[in-house]
Amino acid sequence: MKKNLIIFSGAGMSAESGIGTFRDSGGLWEQFRIEDVATPEAWKRNPNLVTDFYNQRRKQIMEAQPNNAHLLIATLEKDFHVFVITQNIDDLHERAGSTNTLHLHGNIRLSKSSGPKQEEKYYPIEGWELTPNDKCADGFRLRPHVVWFGEEVPALNDAVKILQEADILIVIGTSLQVYPAAGLIHTAPETCKCYIIDPNVEEFSSPSHFIKIKANASEGLRELIKRIVD
Ligand code: APR
Repeated sequence: MKKNLIIFSGAGMSAESGIGTFRDSGGLWEQFRIEDVATPEAWKRNPNLVTDFYNQRRKQIMEAQPNNAHLLIATLEKDFHVFVITQNIDDLHERAGSTNTLHLHGNIRLSKSSGPKQEEKYYPIEGWELTPNDKCADGFRLRPHVVWFGEEVPALNDAVKILQEADILIVIGTSLQVYPAAGLIHTAPETCKCYIIDPNVEEFSSPSHFIKIKANASEGLRELIKRIVD
């Protein structure tokens, strides 16, 4: 009987694909103010600026390749029931071959209506660019399917249900600073074996029962997989 292995990933997962993180030095939130590009108020104030911010990130993501960490996670599906719960809006887990990926903060390759009705209807974006003329059938402008600060996290309950069945939980590349996502790691059962992989793992607090692996994603996963598969 295959064990349930849950990956909980953040921006550090994609760092080795050349995609910058948010809070490392030089990170995205040092280059842009969150209130200018990643809140509903920013969209109301200047939808073109917000659209362009995500167009630039989508372009970079489409030019990037999954890294060894993404690929190692995809190969784990041979030996485990793998569920990837990611805070990332890139599609690198899927492009590496992971078949069960839940995006807590949305998926930059999809768009949705910017209208007042919060329907979970998403539309694939052809290419890297959303434009002001891209409208939804309801007549409202299309916006990126990204959960902005202050918005609900629609996939939260699904993520809790997955974590409650975890036999192994591997947290990779997240500073655990953004809630409610960060709180999810406490919902795994007592019996779950928990690991956290991060080069700066000693610089932030993580639950004491998590086994800490101070390494980047691909190195740390390579080392851990040897341990858990044996
Ligand atoms: N391998 C693994 N981890 C890495 C690597 C790497 N090569 N490089 C950096 N890291 C780690 C950093 O040490 C840090 O702990 O990745 C983490 C990145 O943290 P953040 O930049 O805060 O990203 P994240 O935790 O994913 O942010 C959560 O905040 O801005 C919002 O919605 C956005 O989903 C994002 C959320």
